[in-house]
Amino acid sequence: MTTDQIGEIRKKHFLHTTVHYYKKPLQLVKAKNQYVFDETGRQYLDCVGGIVCISAGHNHPRIKAQLKKMLDEDEIQHTSTLYFNPHAAELAARLIEEAPPGVDRAFFTNSGSEANELAFLAARQATGETMIVNLRHSYHGCTSGALSSCGHNTWRFRSQPVTAVTSAMEPYCYRCPFGKAPSSCELECAKNVETTIQTTTHGKIAAFIAEPVMGVGGFITPPADYFPEVTKIVHKYGGKYISDEVQTGAGRAGQTVLLTKDLEIDADMVTMAKGLGNGAPIGATLMKSDIAEAMSGKMMFNTFGSDPYQAAQAKLVLDIIHDEHLIENAQTVGKYLMDSLKGLMKTHPLIGDVRGRGLLLGAELVKDRTTKEYATAETSELMERCRDKGVLIGKGGLFGNVIRFAPPLTFTRANADELLKAIDEGLFEIERKQ
Ligand SMILES: Cc1ncc(COP(=O)(O)O)c(C=O)c1O
Repeated sequence: MTTDQIGEIRKKHFLHTTVHYYKKPLQLVKAKNQYVFDETGRQYLDCVGGIVCISAGHNHPRIKAQLKKMLDEDEIQHTSTLYFNPHAAELAARLIEEAPPGVDRAFFTNSGSEANELAFLAARQATGETMIVNLRHSYHGCTSGALSSCGHNTWRFRSQPVTAVTSAMEPYCYRCPFGKAPSSCELECAKNVETTIQTTTHGKIAAFIAEPVMGVGGFITPPADYFPEVTKIVHKYGGKYISDEVQTGAGRAGQTVLLTKDLEIDADMVTMAKGLGNGAPIGATLMKSDIAEAMSGKMMFNTFGSDPYQAAQAKLVLDIIHDEHLIENAQTVGKYLMDSLKGLMKTHPLIGDVRGRGLLLGAELVKDRTTKEYATAETSELMERCRDKGVLIGKGGLFGNVIRFAPPLTFTRANADELLKAIDEGLFEIERKQ
């Protein structure tokens, strides 16, 4: 099918809410490691990993071999949780090894949204409370409860009732909502979680949910000392701490598979998806036993949640990340990319801030570094220009002015240079017009 033909069908039959990147939509048909290819065979460097999903690289040979073998041997594709299969059991055991202390139960879903839905349900069941505290600028998924916990108007529908959710201020150092500077702020944002509980709830909560790096919000990166402070507050008011690692997990942002562990967050639950499956639809909710026990007596079911192919793929992704030292690579190449992007700030006034962890990096574009006016149109233009140069990047932020990089964890220094060259040239072209 041509891209125009696909466009016609999408226009006629897809929901109107189905958006696509680029003025002239891009059709992708093949992929290998860090590269994707359109229908004409043109190659692009994938600097956003699909949509923060490709951790081990596109079509990794070990994953291909495993899936082929399973099909050739007529391995069952679907079991649900009602029948046993070894892959889901192995994956659960493996993930628990990677989890923060005390977290020893796993449930598999198809997506990050469902993983968060389950976390909310479990927290409410375990505490007998209903109120969830989220952060402004957060994103936790597109199902009902997850959507209610999103701190972005873009994703909220007028018809969507938002019940039992209250929002704390964002830990957004570049645009501190308290007008403070990181060096002297005394973590006002962390203290605001307590004020929010005291002023907008009856004094007890079910849970607090936060991403260790706020992905859709534009890779807002709270300072490391934010988390222990907030964890104490959440526990003081009887709540469960849910760490949403849908974007940060699978080795992308930390020294280990889960950033929650590196940041020493005493999380009661961790949710995962995206990079865990490397393209396979799988999510996971990991939790402490006391929470799981509180759900006893009821049934939690997910038709495809523990099915063999996606569970086998996720387990293999963890093996590959370990065997190929991809976490170390994410740290090394991530640091190089971060330093180089900061270097580009010298020549490009459009870059207002560079932030992130590992290979989850963002650059916030502003029209003016003093006023920090959002450079939304320039961000879209940079995406277009990079695409023309064969480089795919993402964007995010409440006003769409943050370029986002979340490439496969196999990304090399040479790939980083290719990306930096495209960004450098693209920004020069845009700035020259101004
Ligand atoms: C932090 C975070 N949580 C949850 C989700 C929802 O995941 P999914 O789209 O797999 O339902 C996303 C998706 O972008 C996300 O970024």
